[in-house]
Amino acid sequence: MSALSPTPRTYRPRGPLTGRITVPGDKSISHRALMLAALAVGESRITGLLEGEDVLATAAALRAMGAEITREADGTWSVHGVGVGGLLQPDGPLEMGNSGTSTRLLMGLVASHGITASFTGDASLSRRPMGRVISPLEQMGATVHASHDGRLPLIVEGALPAVPISYTLPVASAQVKSAVLLAGLNTPGITSVIEPVPTRDHTERMLAGFGAELTVEDAADGARIISVRGEADLNPQQLDVPGDPSSAAFFAVAALIVPGSDLLIENVGLNPTRAGLFEVLRDMGGSIEQLDRRTVGGEPVADLRVRHSALRGVTVDPARAPSMIDEFPALFVAAACAQGRTATSGLEELRVKESDRLTAMAGGLTAIGATVEEAPDGLIIDGTGGAPLPGGGPIAALLDHRIAMSMAIAGLASRDGVTVDDVAPIATSFPTFDTLLDQTCGVAQ
Ligand code: S3P
Repeated sequence: MSALSPTPRTYRPRGPLTGRITVPGDKSISHRALMLAALAVGESRITGLLEGEDVLATAAALRAMGAEITREADGTWSVHGVGVGGLLQPDGPLEMGNSGTSTRLLMGLVASHGITASFTGDASLSRRPMGRVISPLEQMGATVHASHDGRLPLIVEGALPAVPISYTLPVASAQVKSAVLLAGLNTPGITSVIEPVPTRDHTERMLAGFGAELTVEDAADGARIISVRGEADLNPQQLDVPGDPSSAAFFAVAALIVPGSDLLIENVGLNPTRAGLFEVLRDMGGSIEQLDRRTVGGEPVADLRVRHSALRGVTVDPARAPSMIDEFPALFVAAACAQGRTATSGLEELRVKESDRLTAMAGGLTAIGATVEEAPDGLIIDGTGGAPLPGGGPIAALLDHRIAMSMAIAGLASRDGVTVDDVAPIATSFPTFDTLLDQTCGVAQ
């Protein structure tokens, strides 16, 4: 495991990124595909599932609660669900590793079943706030015993029957929204979430796809009211998971900042609640073309052709944050190589991700020669205007896959290379990252 045996790696400039790559399946969709399939009656079949540690933690937890989940030789995943209300008491703790999504969404599922489950995680996950899901789940009748200050390890005792609620999200969080809606699946009546700011809507799309009765209303003040009818029957599905835009982001930024690059990234999910980074990079002057727009697994998808570009700094509208919340570390690297100043704000949530991503990226980029100012809610970065960053390290990845990958791509555009102190966390979301990097930089050809 990453915490026990850190794996340092140095990323040096190795020429343009060219050719074509396919990034692995979307992490958010993969978690939800397994969970909803585990609650359907009958066999669902999933292709393109992300086989990263986070999603495997979800699969293991669902198996521990009675779902039959197997991977076939061709990479298709077969899930025999237990039906809504059919989750079984797990024998031991559910090991969540590094995965906040697994933890928060599964807490939602357990909350309305007549079972008790304990959740454990690594050092990064054990620092992250769970109060944001504990509060609505307790309103629904669940009892949560958290170790200290609402963090892991914790125990959820589900309520049967749970009580339907109408819950206004105090933070823009798709995980909290999803936890409440998933709890609502086995709750009599209608459970609603009021979302003042739209966040990724995979749960809504997929619940409807599995046959749940779900409505989405747009309120006059711009809020969305999402309601699900409980005691639902979910029908098994055949699902094809599109490529993860959050993984494509690292290759898109790398191709933009490394001179001579011309890269095709295939099958990238472009759900509008996820695709904010690509718009901001275009505003910065980045050449990103969408080719062959199509629908995969109910989500808009395209191939992205990304070419090296002279980037300009921009001020990022904080209203865009939810649609690119995981992509700021990659954006900060692009900003460090752009001409002029990039200013970001409204990003307090980045402080409670797998690491404090504002401090981690400010520290990492400064250590390799970038000019960065850290504000309470964002970073202000003065770019090099295309000149390579000096490089350096070792940079602390802090058990955060996205810090590790962001600093890795910064290394590709540096003079002397960037050393990341531990690349093991990359396997949580993007196990093929280094292989694809070798492929695009010609090493394996
Ligand atoms: C996710 C939601 C986001 C995101 C995370 C995945 C999801 O978290 O950062 O990587 O799959 O719902 P928040 O809900 O905490 O914003």
